[in-house]
Amino acid sequence: MKLSFKILLTLTLVITVVFGQHLKDVEIEVKVNDLLRQMTFAEKVGQMTLFSGTNKRYEQMIREGKIGSLLNVIGMEENNRIQKIAIEESRLGIPLVIGLDVIHGYRTIFPIPLAASASWDTVLIRRAAEIAAKEAASAGIHWTFAPMVDIARDARWGRIAEGAGEDPFLGSAVSRAQVLGFQGEDLADPLTLLACAKHYVGYGAAEGGRDYNTVDFSERTLREIYLPSFRAAVDAGVGTLMSAFNEIGGVPASANQFTLRNILKEEWGFDGFVVSDWNSIGELVAHGIAKDRLEAGVKGLTAGIDMDMEGRCYTTDMEALVADGTLLEELIDDAVRRILRMKFKLGLFEHSYIDENLQKGLILHQDHIQTALELARESIVLLKNEDGVLPLNRKELNTIALIGPLADDKDAPLGTWRCEGKREDVITVYEGLKNKFGNDVKIIYAKGCDVKNNSRSEFNKALKAARKADIVVMVMGESADMSGEAASRANLNLPGVQAELINAIAETKKPVVLVLMNGRPLTLSNVESKVTAIVESWHLGIQHGNAVADVLTGDYNPSGKLTVTFPRSAGQIPIYYNHKNTGRPGDPDTKFSSKYIDLPSSPLYPFGYGLSYTKFKYSDIKVLNNRLLSTDELVVSANVKNTGKRAGDEVVQLYIRDIVGSVTRPVKELKGFQRVALEAGEQKTVQFRVSVQELSFYDSDMKYTVEPGNFSVMIGGNSVEVLTTDFKVVSLK
Ligand code: BGC
Repeated sequence: MKLSFKILLTLTLVITVVFGQHLKDVEIEVKVNDLLRQMTFAEKVGQMTLFSGTNKRYEQMIREGKIGSLLNVIGMEENNRIQKIAIEESRLGIPLVIGLDVIHGYRTIFPIPLAASASWDTVLIRRAAEIAAKEAASAGIHWTFAPMVDIARDARWGRIAEGAGEDPFLGSAVSRAQVLGFQGEDLADPLTLLACAKHYVGYGAAEGGRDYNTVDFSERTLREIYLPSFRAAVDAGVGTLMSAFNEIGGVPASANQFTLRNILKEEWGFDGFVVSDWNSIGELVAHGIAKDRLEAGVKGLTAGIDMDMEGRCYTTDMEALVADGTLLEELIDDAVRRILRMKFKLGLFEHSYIDENLQKGLILHQDHIQTALELARESIVLLKNEDGVLPLNRKELNTIALIGPLADDKDAPLGTWRCEGKREDVITVYEGLKNKFGNDVKIIYAKGCDVKNNSRSEFNKALKAARKADIVVMVMGESADMSGEAASRANLNLPGVQAELINAIAETKKPVVLVLMNGRPLTLSNVESKVTAIVESWHLGIQHGNAVADVLTGDYNPSGKLTVTFPRSAGQIPIYYNHKNTGRPGDPDTKFSSKYIDLPSSPLYPFGYGLSYTKFKYSDIKVLNNRLLSTDELVVSANVKNTGKRAGDEVVQLYIRDIVGSVTRPVKELKGFQRVALEAGEQKTVQFRVSVQELSFYDSDMKYTVEPGNFSVMIGGNSVEVLTTDFKVVSLK
């Protein structure tokens, strides 16, 4: 009796929620259509226009209904002021959507996305996005141009810093977490942001890693590598997508009907809107597929781009084309509908202005700073730790020489796209160590050299400091402007004379701990053997110094794992773990095999790699059932034991390999991961459940399917050191 009452109650709740939502959606559609009917052509293309910043001319255009959205307008008061013009002075009073690149925090700056992905902690990544949304929304922002979910297999590409690395499975998990974090439960909540998955699609595959460059790959690679993280965003309910700058096999992504209309809008049923990247429609002229902006606009719109960012291609000139039948008015109406729908979902018609009280106490709230610290700590990857030199032994330590151009730098930790982040909020490594040690340990600081220039004039001071110390900590790497947009590099070595300084300091025979700060994998072959330990700290945001100090002292046991392969040399690029086997798999002893004659083919540090101050031992990999139907679930487990003397977290990774297929398959594919906390001496059985459907791929007929046959399944702490067993997918026939 009691139970059936409970069931009834649950059912009623479910019906109310589902139908309530449905009712809301229907109401929105009615309002959208009602508004659309009243709009002139100019007002329609106005809604499809996004401009950056404000000025008198834009204000007038807003009054005339010729601009529907803005980006880069900063500050709550300014946003409210400009919104007031749209609401009170334009004919239809349609509110503006105001966008900004809130990439890894608004004022509380978190680790850059590549760093955050190294935490493999989607719960914390989601929380960081939620906080970024809160801070930005309280300042009048409605829309962020994030997450960047581009898969990147090329460390030369500067924008690798903005994504989650090279793997589509992890990339999808991070994409989902970020979308849910930014958008929350309800877009109408004043403290959430509309998210924008970008850059659709293939931007990370730019030839030579040079930003904006040509892209050419097969449909299979598109679907298996570059699309899944976008699909994950769409499935998580992302409201918008941004089309990319690059071409794909001759068709620019911003004029690509196949990817935008056929796949995104038809196949996936995406009902949000697509915005172009900055002038990416206008650039169709330079790509050479449109003779002028008008033709570019027609191509962009026909392909499926609903809003033109700074391209000035969606204009009233299009009206004549509609009249002569070159352009379908339905395309315009569909685009406007999508944009208005989002404005209603954001609740902008009901709550157009930001309540100034929202911001009070929210920006840089103590909880936000604490989350920034937690994520920064988890993002750090310990790459090398010879003789257990780390953690630093506080009892025996008298003097540290802290050397390097980034040791006391308040800019680099903010990384690329720092939004409203301020240098004054940043804790440097020097400050972090001073906070940690107080007067217990003497720290002699010497900059030693700059990041980029070649002056050696401060080498001597650094050498003197090193000679006086028990241990040397060197903080080296890239300044913030060396990664991100338009910051591709052909050489991935430490820039300037930094490597030379490391070599000079190593001559003192003092143990050297190299703390790296960078927005991409670096090639470290020329310094790796000279230093005792390497701590990859990326650009970690405002808590950089405290996080590094926690790791160096062992107050936090590092647990991050690389989400991108570190090559030995830029000449190995592209290099990624989920490569194909080839017909002549690399074998150092076989001449006619796929390899280099001057360098091993293996990376310096593989995908998934990262050390801890304790050791984890894997044993006993088991599949519950080694014959599975395509409707079954693979259940696989292994024991993981902390065999060291301190507690630690381990990111346990699951890979599979489809041994024989109708098309070639990667040697490994990530299909699961879990962050597991283990006390010293503790052992846990880590179990993964993967539905056999998740082993699907595009077969020789481009059908997405699981093919019966043999599979290997691997569990380990990185993509190379794994335990392996196997199973079979059988067909009913
Ligand atoms: C970038 C986008 C960014 C946009 C707006 C473009 O140059 O490629 O990622 O969202 O500018 O700032």
